[in-house]
Amino acid sequence: MKLTTAGESHGKALVAIIEGLPAHLPIDKEQINAELALRQSGYGRGGRQKIEKDEVEILTGARNGETLGSPLTLCIYNKDFASWENAMSSGACDKAAMAQKRLTKVRPGHADLSGILKFEQTDARNILERASARETAIRVAAGSVYKQYLAALGVEIAGYVTEICGVKDGGRYAFDELFYAKSTETGMLNSEAAACAKEKIDELKKNGDTAGGAVEIRVRGLKSGFGSMMTYAEKLDGRLAQGLMSIQAVKAVEIGAGFAVAGVSGKDVHDEIFYSEERGYYRATNRAGGIEGGMTNGEEIVLRVAMKPIPTLMKGLRTVDCESKAAEIAASERSDVCAVFALERIAEAVVAQVLADAVAERLGGDTLAQVQARYRDLP
Ligand SMILES: Cc1cc2nc3c(=O)[nH]c(=O)nc-3n(C[C@H](O)[C@H](O)[C@H](O)COP(=O)(O)O)c2cc1C
Repeated sequence: MKLTTAGESHGKALVAIIEGLPAHLPIDKEQINAELALRQSGYGRGGRQKIEKDEVEILTGARNGETLGSPLTLCIYNKDFASWENAMSSGACDKAAMAQKRLTKVRPGHADLSGILKFEQTDARNILERASARETAIRVAAGSVYKQYLAALGVEIAGYVTEICGVKDGGRYAFDELFYAKSTETGMLNSEAAACAKEKIDELKKNGDTAGGAVEIRVRGLKSGFGSMMTYAEKLDGRLAQGLMSIQAVKAVEIGAGFAVAGVSGKDVHDEIFYSEERGYYRATNRAGGIEGGMTNGEEIVLRVAMKPIPTLMKGLRTVDCESKAAEIAASERSDVCAVFALERIAEAVVAQVLADAVAERLGGDTLAQVQARYRDLP
């Protein structure tokens, strides 16, 4: 399955084209909109979320509520475009409006400086409009479609926020408990930790500073054998890491025990294999996080993703004006203080995308019923 996304942060719209969906997959638009609303939520978000209320429009590929097997096009119109049209039009823009939105005090931690040098631009606006995490709205919309495809096979994805700027949730949770995280303000399940995290965010906001954090994403119900050890490009752990690392501000991905494997011996890392009539093959532990040799092994997939603090600080970081070369304080547009709750929704969407791709690659299928029958026949 191929996903292409396009769109600028303050342009007219964001779009996604998904190729490779089978025919007859029912598409629940309300479910997509619910995911989009969650991506805009969470304690510590900035002013942009108050302007936009993201809603998806399905432009192609579906009829009467289900897919046709043709490319599915999703679209989210940017409400903010109404006040940016003079500066962001794809045709001739108003010079004064462009000058007003021009950004030359390039922001540390952003694509601004490397982008203007690479694309021979003089206005970092031409870089940041695409680099912005606004792009993740359309990835979440597409992710919701992929989740609906996976749900038709009994595969579920859930997660929670494990850390916000040093405040750790510290819990260990059963899969069903994870669904509660989306109804909290921080995405944490431990209410004491959540209260501390909110205090931390308030304190950072007061000081013009920002937070990062980490999330855990888990997948239940996917059978073994998705992904492959045959070529490096097919390895599922590599594909998941690539997808997750492509999310704006993500700096680390762990699978299963992750970095902890470096500090312990083999007997505390590898999952011994058992067999019973009732369960078939199984492992009593899951330190591999459900992936061995680049393939699912039938256990829960467990991933953790870390995000750096939001790079736009209201207090401003030192930089250089790329026009005058003078020392300056970086531009600070309206910005989030903490977006870790949103990261959790985005990471779920990306995991759904990678897994749906691996399922389609192995099972093919012109119709959803064919995919379901082929999945049922797997061991
Ligand atoms: C959900 C989400 C929201 C974000 N919001 C902001 C923001 O309001 N301001 C900002 O400066 N960066 C924000 N970022 C981070 C930047 O988009 C990101 O750090 C930047 O594009 C540079 O990319 P890199 O960090 O991957 O190198 C956000 C990231 C995510 C995932």
